[in-house]
Amino acid sequence: LLFGLLALLGAYLLGSLSFAVIVSRFMGLADPRSYGSKNPGATNVLRSGNRKAAALTLAFDAFKGTAAVLIAQALAPRLGLSDTTIAFVGLAAFLGHLWPVFFRFQGGKGVATALGVLLGLNPLLALATLATWLAIAYFFRYSSLAAIVAALFAPFYELLIWGASPAALAVAVMGLLLVWRHSANIKKLLAGTESRIGQKAAAAT
Ligand code: G3P
Repeated sequence: LLFGLLALLGAYLLGSLSFAVIVSRFMGLADPRSYGSKNPGATNVLRSGNRKAAALTLAFDAFKGTAAVLIAQALAPRLGLSDTTIAFVGLAAFLGHLWPVFFRFQGGKGVATALGVLLGLNPLLALATLATWLAIAYFFRYSSLAAIVAALFAPFYELLIWGASPAALAVAVMGLLLVWRHSANIKKLLAGTESRIGQKAAAAT
């Protein structure tokens, strides 16, 4: 039990590294919490016009989710971590991204980190979910809409193809939280005021 709790805490701390803020700071860019949607995430960093910073944010925010799961999987035999604990480790990294202890609990919406967690838990599910994101993003050009649709489909892919499991529960919880974190985006989508992918923020520079 102690090792399980430590694994959850470690994953939460790893997830708390808000790479949109960290990468922007390193590259001397404006804080993503100050422009566009004010969200510390790759989509909003892209609104600064710096594609490299956006790509690095996406990669690191996803990687922390994958790393948390893979480290827990690697330590599982030695520490006696169950599949449920491993799934919850992924969820803990995701929660860290949403409510980061290092950034006054003001985190992102969890898209990249959820994808990273899926990659660790079930790579094929991650691919199917990414394909869903890409298809919606390609046709509609809204990052938020693509994330919402992908997050709603992911638990069904997991349940229908692989069946009920602790991972399926973690995927469903992440999906619901992710959609809820997009409430402001949903309002903007309905009002027709959501910004499209590639549209720059006025005050980003
Ligand atoms: O990465 C989150 C994305 O789905 C929406 O971000 O900045 O448009 O609110 P944003």
